[in-house]
Formats: sequence, C-alpha cells, structure tokens
Amino acid sequence: MTAAIRHFLSFLDYTSADLTELIDLARRLKANRADLHREGLHGKVMGMVFFNPSLRTRTSFESLMAKLGGHAICLSVGGDTWSLEHRDGAVMDGAAAEHVREAAPVLSRYCDLLGVRTFAGLKDATEDAQDAVIRSFARHSTVPLINMESTMEHPCQGLADRMTLEEKLGNARGRRFVLTWAPHVKGLPMAVPHSAILAAASAGMSVTVVHPPGYELNADIVSKAQSWCAAAGGELEISDQQINACQSADVIYVKSWGSSALYGQPQEQTKSFARHKDWRVDMTHFGDKDALLMHCLPVRRNVVIADAALDSRHSVVVDQAENRLWAQAAVVLRLCCTTEPRP
Ligand code: CP
Repeated sequence: MTAAIRHFLSFLDYTSADLTELIDLARRLKANRADLHREGLHGKVMGMVFFNPSLRTRTSFESLMAKLGGHAICLSVGGDTWSLEHRDGAVMDGAAAEHVREAAPVLSRYCDLLGVRTFAGLKDATEDAQDAVIRSFARHSTVPLINMESTMEHPCQGLADRMTLEEKLGNARGRRFVLTWAPHVKGLPMAVPHSAILAAASAGMSVTVVHPPGYELNADIVSKAQSWCAAAGGELEISDQQINACQSADVIYVKSWGSSALYGQPQEQTKSFARHKDWRVDMTHFGDKDALLMHCLPVRRNVVIADAALDSRHSVVVDQAENRLWAQAAVVLRLCCTTEPRP
C-alpha cells in the first residue's frame, strides 16, 4: 500500500491492488478470529465522532477494537459532546460550541486513531460534494482518521461489500453487478451507492446502475468506477430498465438515494418516491437466476425491499454487515501498526 496514505477516507485514494491487499488481510483475520488479541493493538484507543446515528458502524468498531486488545470511545455530536463547527472563519454565535480546529487535535492527544461519521445535509449539492466536515477533521487530526461514512463515500461499507462479493462469488471479475435505486420515505445521501459501485468496479465486475431519470450519481465517482471496469475488460452502464437489468444480474445491490434533480426539495422528493414506488425490489427481480441480494442496512422492509426477497436464499445482507467488522479490523491494523500483521 502507498506509504503516504495515512487516513482511510476515500476509495479514490487507493488502487485496486491496495484494496485487494486490505481484503486479503480482512479474510485472514476472519479465518483466524480466535487469535485476534495477538494482533498488537493493546493500549490503542480509537475515538469515534458521530454526527449521525449508527447501529453497525459504531458496534463493529467498538467490537473489533475490544477483540484486538484496544478500546473505543464513542461521542455523539450535539448529544453527549459539544456541537461542532467546521467552517473556517465562522462567527460561532449559533449552536456550535467548539470548532474542529480544536476538537480534532485535542482528540488526537487522547486517541491513537479517529473515526468520523457525517452525512450529507441534502440541501446544497455543491456544498455536499466538498465533503467539508471529514476534510476538516483530516486537516486538523494528528492521528490517522477513518471515514465512517461522509457526504460522498462510505469506504468501510465498500470494503466490506467487496469482501462479501469475493467471498460469495469467488473471483468476481467479469460477473454482473447491478446497483438498483429503490424508493424510500425521505431523501437519502449517495455515499453508499457511490462506494458500492467503486467496490464492484475495483473487483473487476461489470457494473450496471439503474435508476429513474433525475437520480444521477456523482459524475467523478461514476467516472472512476468506469475506469476500473474498463481496466478489467468490462464496462459500466447506466439504465432506467430495472427489471431487465436485475434479471440478468449475478448481484442485485439495492439502495435508496435522493434525487439529484430535486436536491434540497424534500416535498417534491416525497412525491417522486410515490411516483416510483414500483421500483421496490421483490422476488420478480430475480427471474430464474440465483443472484445475490445485497443492501448495506438499515433497510425499510416492504418500502425498499419486499419481505419475501429479504427473507429468501438470495439475501446476504447479514453477511455483509458481519464483514464490516473484519474489513475495518484490517483498516485499523494497517493504520495503527508499524509492523506487519501476523500471516
Ligand atoms: N451500513 C451502515 O453503515 O449501518 P449503520 O448506519 O447502522 O452504521
């Protein structure tokens, strides 16, 4: 892995080979789970800063730090810790009592590793594309920083997803990965779909993204995924033909995200979801193929995916969630340990 990379913020900072190396380590850790305490994280502390809720991310990091012999501290911004400002030059006469310029270096004195979760505000697409909160933490932290989902990417989810794809498919290269949009009750960020297509593309899969018009993903992310697909001899297609794409897929990855055309318009967004409610994924999407069903969770049953599909043999959503722990353990060891993890 490139020595200069100190944080784990974005798949765009990595080569496909770097990601393969991390997944190989994650698989070794999973296979030797009884020996995790020997991996050398004793006395190491991870500080986790959550601007938004979590079940998997928080619990998997707390669990892996304990299993590796370290410790994790969880802070909820505006709950059990101060509301934080990140904009340089801000006049802090509102809710925020502390600036990231102090919070990040102070936490770096207490902790050996930091993680930050900060969702897109979904009001201003240009502002969200800058990923300003995690970038501010990256500038002001003096210890390695992990992106636990930011406005643009969820690389921990992406790494676990690629691990799951290769675990289930063997060599995933050339297999058909379909990311399908699905309706929801409110607009959601694009971080997970971005990371899902980067993960599949980095594994050499042929990727199809299906969504209704007006739900386009970030062009730079799509372009990077396209280049990885092309390097593996495949391609990335974008379509609005959901059933056709799903019925020829090896993997159907379902995710809801908000409309790029209706950004910052929550009422119009709700009406758009209602117009597209038949995009909910059910058993008809599988045709006669034995495709995998993936979702990052949490999932709203019978809005996003029907019970019958989630409860079917196709679903690997719980395996995906488990692999968060192993993939993140690999990232933590790579960032915190100067010596090679044990073979
Ligand atoms: N997939 C995921 O990140 O789950 P949480 O939001 O529960 O952490």
